Amino acid sequence: MTEPLWEDERPRLAAMGPVKVRVPAKINLHLGVGPLREDGYHEVTTVYHAVGLFDEITARPAETLVLTMDGEGTGELALDGTNLVIRAVQVLAAATGHEPHARLHLRKQIPLAAGLAGGSADAAAALVACDALWGTGLSREDLATIAARLGSDVPFLVLGGTALGLGRGERVSPVLAPGRAWHWVLALADGGLSTPDVYRELDRLRAAGLVAAAAGSTDGILAALRQRDAAVLAASLVNDLQPAALSLRPSLRDTLDAGAAAGSLAGVVSGSGPTCAFLCRDAANADAVAKGLEESGTCRAARTATGPVPGARLT
Ligand code: C5P
Repeated sequence: MTEPLWEDERPRLAAMGPVKVRVPAKINLHLGVGPLREDGYHEVTTVYHAVGLFDEITARPAETLVLTMDGEGTGELALDGTNLVIRAVQVLAAATGHEPHARLHLRKQIPLAAGLAGGSADAAAALVACDALWGTGLSREDLATIAARLGSDVPFLVLGGTALGLGRGERVSPVLAPGRAWHWVLALADGGLSTPDVYRELDRLRAAGLVAAAAGSTDGILAALRQRDAAVLAASLVNDLQPAALSLRPSLRDTLDAGAAAGSLAGVVSGSGPTCAFLCRDAANADAVAKGLEESGTCRAARTATGPVPGARLT
C-alpha cells in the first residue's frame, strides 16, 4: 500500500464549498472474542481490513443540521439523533465548540447491520467531513478519541488499511505488511443481524459449552499477511462470532458452502454477519466466485472488492 494511512494534510481552514469524503467497509481477518466486560462490551483481539466497498458523504456549510441520503438501505435509517452520522456531527461540535451545522448527503453502498461496519463508516466519514468543513484543527489523536466515543469500529474506519484492534476494538494500530492487494467477494444477505444479539448468542453458546473459548493470538494472521500468499492467508482467517451468526441465521452455512463450491480459497462470516467474505486468488477468481454465489441463490448480491484501502478520506 503506497497511500499514507493518515493524511495529516487535513485542511485547517473552514471550507467554503462542499467537501466530499469516501469511506470503506471493513471485514475482520481475525476476530477473537474474549469475556464479557462489566461495561457490556467484550474484550476483543481483532485484525481489521478495509475493503473497497464505499459510502460517500458530501458536506456543505449550512445554518442547521440536515441529513439526506440515497442508495443501500435508504428509508430504513432514521434521520434523527439516533443516526450515527448525526451523533458524530453533534459529538464533534461539542468537542470543538462549533455549532453542529452542516448540510450532509450520504450515498450508501455498504448495507446496514451487515457486519461490514457501515454505520460506523458513515460516522467516521461525517467526522472527517465536518472536521474539514469547519477547519477544527483537531489532531488525528483527538479525532480518534472522538471516534471511539461513537462506536468500537469507528476509529478503524478513520484509519483504514489493515490494523490490529484491541480493547473493545477501538484501540487500533496499523499492521505493517508488505503491499499487496487481496481479492475478496462479499456475499450480501437479505436482512441484517443485530451486533448485540450476535455477541449475546456467543455468550449463550459458550455458557452451554457448545463452542470453544476465544481464538488464540493474531500471530497466525500477521505471519500470513507478511507471506503475501493468499492460500496461507485463507487458512488463517478466524471469526469467533461465526458460530453465533450461524446459530441465528443457519442459512449462512449454505452461503459459505456456495462460496467454497464456486472456487474461493476460504469464506468467513464478516464481523457479526450476515455478510460472508470470501478470499480469492486473484481478480478473475473473484469474478467467478461472485458469479457462482449470485447463481446459487444463497445471497442477495455478491460484490467484488480489494483490500486494504485507506479509511475515511477527502476526495
Ligand atoms: O461499539 P458499538 O456501539 O458498535 O457496539 C454495538 C454493540 O455490540 C455493543 O453495545 C455490544 O453489545 C456489542 N459489542 C460487544 N463487544 C465489543 C463490541 C461490540 O459486546 N467489543
